This record gives sequence, C-alpha cells and structure tokens, in this order.
Amino acid sequence: MKRIDLEREDRVRVWRRDFPILDTRPNGKPLVYLDNAATTQKPFQVIEAQANYYRSTNSNVHRGVHWLAERATDAYERARATVAKFINAAQPSEIVFVRGTTEAINLVAHSFARPRLQAGDEIVLTTIEHHSNIVPWQLACEQTGARLKVVPVDDSGTLDIEAYGRLLGPRTKLVALGHVSNALGTVNPVGTLIEQAHARGIPVLLDGAQAVAHMPVDVRALDCDFYAFSGHKLYGPTGIGVLYGKAAWLDAMPPWQGGGDMIRTVSFDKTTYNDLPWKFEAGTPNIAGAIALAVAIDYVGTIGFSAIEACEHALLDYATAELQRVDGVRLIGNAVHKSGILSFVVDGIHAHDVGSILSDAGIAVRAGHHCAMPAMTRFKVPATVRASLALYNTHEEIDALVNGLTRVKELFRS
Ligand code: ALA
Repeated sequence: MKRIDLEREDRVRVWRRDFPILDTRPNGKPLVYLDNAATTQKPFQVIEAQANYYRSTNSNVHRGVHWLAERATDAYERARATVAKFINAAQPSEIVFVRGTTEAINLVAHSFARPRLQAGDEIVLTTIEHHSNIVPWQLACEQTGARLKVVPVDDSGTLDIEAYGRLLGPRTKLVALGHVSNALGTVNPVGTLIEQAHARGIPVLLDGAQAVAHMPVDVRALDCDFYAFSGHKLYGPTGIGVLYGKAAWLDAMPPWQGGGDMIRTVSFDKTTYNDLPWKFEAGTPNIAGAIALAVAIDYVGTIGFSAIEACEHALLDYATAELQRVDGVRLIGNAVHKSGILSFVVDGIHAHDVGSILSDAGIAVRAGHHCAMPAMTRFKVPATVRASLALYNTHEEIDALVNGLTRVKELFRS
C-alpha cells in the first residue's frame, strides 16, 4: 500500500500556489515539472522583486551620489548580507556576486589555482563532477603543467573514501568537488573530505549548485575554503550566482577581470584595486538578480529547511520505490545519502526518446549526459533520464511520471 503523509502533501500544495508557472498546461496537460536540477521555478515573490526593482529602484551601484543610486546600492549590499547569513559566512565581503556556479569556479581556477600551480602539481576531483567543475581545472592544468587526479565511485555512485585519502599527496594543491552530484544525486560526505584535505594543508572548493536549495549549508561549520552556487537553482533568477571564499584567500588573489568597480585608482603607470568583494566584481553587476536572489533566500527561509528536507526526502523514497517497480527501468546512482535526483535508463529506449514522449504528456525531465560525461562513462551509459525534485513536487506528479513511462514502453512495443 502506498504510504503518503497527507499533512505533508497539504503543505506542498500550499507552497505550490506561490509558483505561477505550475499552472501552465503544456499540450493541454498539467505541467509536471521534474527538471529542478537544471533550474527551479520561481515564486511570485521573486518575480515581483525583480520587476519592483526596475519599477522603483533601478540605478547603477557604487557610482552615483543621487538618491536612486544610493537606494540601489543599499539594496544590492543588503542582498550580499542576506547571502552571507544564509551560508553563515563570517562577513559579507566574503560573498562575490558572479553569473553562476560555472563563473564562480572559473574565477577560482583563474585567480587562485593558476598562479599557484606548477608542473607536476595536482588537483583532486571526483568521477561524478559536473563539467563546470572539471573543465576550468583542465584549462588551468594545460597552462601550468599540473594534473588532475580523479576519485572513483562505486556502483552505487558513492565516493571511494579510501582512494580519496590515497590521492591526497604532497603535490595536491586543491580539492574541488561537488557537494551533491547533479547526475546521480549522491550527497558527498564533504565535512570529512574537507577535514582530511586540511590535515594535509590542502584547500577545498565545493560546488554547491545542487545543494543549496535542498539542505542548510554552513560554510564555517564545513570550513570549506570556497563554495560556489547559482541563484536559479535556488528559486532565484538566472544570471546571478555566488562565490564564497575565505577572506584570507580572496585577499591574496589577484582580480580576474578588469574594468569598473574593481579599481581604486587607475593611471597608465599603475592601477590599484578595490577592497573585497568588489575587487572581483568588474562592470555593472546583475543588481536586480542579486536583490531577487536575496528574496528567494528569504522565501526558502520562511518555509525552512527542516520542512523542505522532510518533504523532498519522503518524495525521493516514494519515487525510488515506484520507479523500481517499473519493468525495464534501472536507476543509476543509489547511494545511501542522496538528494532528490533520480537518474535512470529504460531498457532498449534512448533517454532522449523517453524525454520527448514524457514531454508530450506534460512531464518535464532532463535527458542526456547532464554535463557529467565522465559519470555517464563510469556507469557505461550514453545518457540517462533525470527526474529532479523541488519543494513543490507531489506524489501525484511521481505517479504521472510512472504512468508516462508505462506509456513510453507501450509505444515502443507497438
Ligand atoms: N547543471 C544543470 C543540470 O544539471 C544545468 O541540469
């Protein structure tokens, strides 16, 4: 018998009302949005915040002396303080606004890794990283002669912790790993991994893109050196993201882009740079995005992570059991510690075909390699179908997915 906590489901129904797009009817069918690892939908509070900014506050920041400029600057810097509090950074100046996780990691690769790397040095990653946490390091290695070392995973998608310990060596200059795998949902034991790296004096960057919307993140408790995430996977807008860095590291790093706002003085002989965090924010930033991201963070804070985690975990358990009952469906990635990501293949049917047929039924999933080709290679599949959960997903939507998969199989049989 299906066991569904009705009280919990009622709560989810209330949250759903905040997301206007969930009323959309693609092909006349109710939208079942299960592509939240790619991007989450936005509550009206966030949509309104962005529009209100342009209605009432729009001006450039840190430049003008006029009233609107001050108002925009105040709101932008308040947003930074909100982000700092959200991840428990020691100070707002440790929060650099960037376009997203990818840009945050590229910033660290460029300004932190490259100047420190020498031929033969090593950066430790894992097999299940997103390309955004592979390619920036490869570029840094190409320019410096450093090398990547890759921690393997077992058949469940769990990191081999012993291998990790063995890979940390005197030449390791950085560990860069995902907090949660976007392709499999594995939640890595980042606290332990950071401790082990720090015991050898190795700094650690965490790619938190798939974590921040699903669990509380405390960068000081984790003691990570860098933490990167995107606003759009946290119910905020696209084009805004965050790099957290310990102030001591950020202070020691050179700027990575030159232009307005990142300077103190400019002359043709010598330019001096601004204080943290503005040293890393060249050009007019995404002011509206940062302000709306802070509203998204407040929104999540109002609901609370204990409620979000309880609902998403219950739904993950339900979805895992239901998908396992579908003949021919094989889940890829069943680590003990998982976030709400279900990656699977359907026997004899390409993931793209599954995704397209589900789309005809109003069901949005991602099909492909999920920007994690080495993870696909590890599991010997070209692609998977990925259903990924957010706070507004319901058991009925999982039932719709399961019914959709039955239909996919019927179509391919006929
Ligand atoms: N990184 C995003 C995903 O996993 C786009 O789908």
